[in-house]
Amino acid sequence: MRNQFFDQERKIIVGDPMTDESWDSLLPLPLQTLSPFQWTPISVIERTWKYLFSDGVTSVVDLGSGVGKFCIYLSLLSSDSIEVIGLEDREELLSVSEAIKKHWGVSRVQFQKKNFLTHFPYGHSHYYCFNPLYETIKGSHSIDLKKNKSANQFLKDLHTFKQNLFLLKPKSKLITFHGFGGSYLPGFRLVLNEEISGGEFQVWEKDKS
Ligand SMILES: C[S@@+](CC[C@H](N)C(=O)[O-])C[C@H]1O[C@@H](n2cnc3c(N)ncnc32)[C@H](O)[C@@H]1O
Repeated sequence: MRNQFFDQERKIIVGDPMTDESWDSLLPLPLQTLSPFQWTPISVIERTWKYLFSDGVTSVVDLGSGVGKFCIYLSLLSSDSIEVIGLEDREELLSVSEAIKKHWGVSRVQFQKKNFLTHFPYGHSHYYCFNPLYETIKGSHSIDLKKNKSANQFLKDLHTFKQNLFLLKPKSKLITFHGFGGSYLPGFRLVLNEEISGGEFQVWEKDKS
């Protein structure tokens, strides 16, 4: 049966350079509209792959994987050579991710319905996030209205997030686009800081001790 998401599909020709427009055209319209604010741009995923490839990546976790854009395109760029895991707490976004994963036929991407604050996935070489805690701060372009917007909640979540990251093994990397929510990450040092697609692309490395 044809997937409902692809009824309006514009054809993507294998071999053509990927663009945000062509990727996003697979999404239901309301999620396409959110793309510039919520889903990682193609150029940032390409930069991430270049970094990961040079850094001996074995597995990457996207903390808050949304519609799966980062995970699926990264897996395509890597030709399924690495394990990619997406954790997302919104069921609807996971169904969209699964549908798009099937469309592209990537075999080494796994999506899990998990809250990474309460079930942090330890044991991977690299982690990625696109400012997932930002949604608890008042602002526009929200995915939905299901989560409370509260400065207190944001600070609590940021504290938990930093505590989880502090327990990562030495040399683990956290790659961020538009940050992780704070400006200082205890136990880590900033090893890369670039501007791509109007956003801050940073890599943090966990200290030896
Ligand atoms: C800005 S979007 C980025 C999506 C994806 N990483 C990308 O770059 O295309 C942040 C995502 O994190 C998810 N998220 C926020 N807090 C989360 C949590 N505690 N556990 C799991 N997912 C979370 C949101 O539902 C949203 O899909």
